[in-house]
Amino acid sequence: MKRFDIAVIPGDGIGREVVPAGCRVLDAVAEAHGGFRLRYKSYPWSCAWYLKHGKMMPDDGLKRLGDSDSIFLGAVGFPGVADHISLWGLLIPIRRQFRQYVNARPIRSFPGVAGPLRGAPTFDVLIVRENNEGEYTEVGGRIYPGTDEEVVVQAAIFTRRGVERIMRYAFDQARSRSGRLASATKSNGIVHSMPFWDEVARMVAADYPDVEYSEYHIDAIAAQLVLTPERFDVIVASNLFGDILSDIGAALMGGIGMAPSGNIAPGTGGVSMFEPVHGSAPQIAGQGIANPVGQLLSAAMMLHHLGEPDAAGALDSVVAQVLIDPALHTADLGGSATMARVCDAVAERLRG
Ligand SMILES: NC(=O)c1ccc[n+]([C@@H]2O[C@H](COP(=O)([O-])OP(=O)(O)OC[C@H]3O[C@@H](n4cnc5c(N)ncnc54)[C@H](O)[C@@H]3O)[C@@H](O)[C@H]2O)c1
Repeated sequence: MKRFDIAVIPGDGIGREVVPAGCRVLDAVAEAHGGFRLRYKSYPWSCAWYLKHGKMMPDDGLKRLGDSDSIFLGAVGFPGVADHISLWGLLIPIRRQFRQYVNARPIRSFPGVAGPLRGAPTFDVLIVRENNEGEYTEVGGRIYPGTDEEVVVQAAIFTRRGVERIMRYAFDQARSRSGRLASATKSNGIVHSMPFWDEVARMVAADYPDVEYSEYHIDAIAAQLVLTPERFDVIVASNLFGDILSDIGAALMGGIGMAPSGNIAPGTGGVSMFEPVHGSAPQIAGQGIANPVGQLLSAAMMLHHLGEPDAAGALDSVVAQVLIDPALHTADLGGSATMARVCDAVAERLRG
């Protein structure tokens, strides 16, 4: 029987609740499917770990993660530790070390979940966010801090290789779905990097004549995503733009607790990492009321990536079935179900 080694990082806050619950559901999927087993190795790296050790993970942390088949993460960040420390001390090093240059963030509507939009449109959009460069860089600096002469420079990095590979991934996804790709740009205001982004996108588009390619300024696509999400199939965006669009998308799904994501390293041999879009939600941590759907759908994405599409599809569709029942909605969806109740319902249905 196949065995997958999963590195598990629950992280902080509700991550410590939804990740163990997600692993129990994954076990139910493996049991129901019978063709594979998952072996977990859990790492306590988090803000709590930082407060004890002065760093977010040990010096050999990335090497240890590299021995796994996949990484399953909750969320990091907690009051008392600045967010840039948790992000740059753990998540960004993982995304870069393993060249996880794709951040795939699917958003879709679910029957039974009203969402905030009038008329509850049906939509299914894949947001492909560039994950290794763009606006999230440490290039820049501050001089004369705190004085009247203070100067701050924050650079964005766009490489031909980086833009071309994210475009090819997005075009491939569009080709395998309904054949439409929209690119988020801002070439009117950002005069160097965004015209370059468009230029590379158009060059790659020439290799995909069967994909209908379009460009939107980021402000316009943000509005269109809210007004008519059903018009989009795949959206490709830079690191910052993709981050913002996918949080809008998560809100359209009914709440940020609903959305999954995959940090994927296609064709690089690097380990991929799957995590919900939400953060550690300190306000509701420890109460057992977090919505586990984003974590469970991330688990389904991980199974798909590991080469178990049937198991992934089964988990995905059971989550969708469970969401039809309002008695199985958590508080963020207007219900009163606990996280454990939702996960038990998913596991029971998986076991049949
Ligand atoms: N990838 C990550 O690890 C990640 C992502 C985003 C934020 N963070 C960190 O998380 C901390 C909190 O950040 P934030 O408040 O901006 O974002 P957040 O996603 O944690 O919370 C935003 C809002 O959504 C709610 N929420 C989030 N997930 C939910 C769930 N599963 N079920 C029900 N409600 C949920 C929260 O209660 C809150 O009202 C910060 O330290 C931030 O840096 C981490």
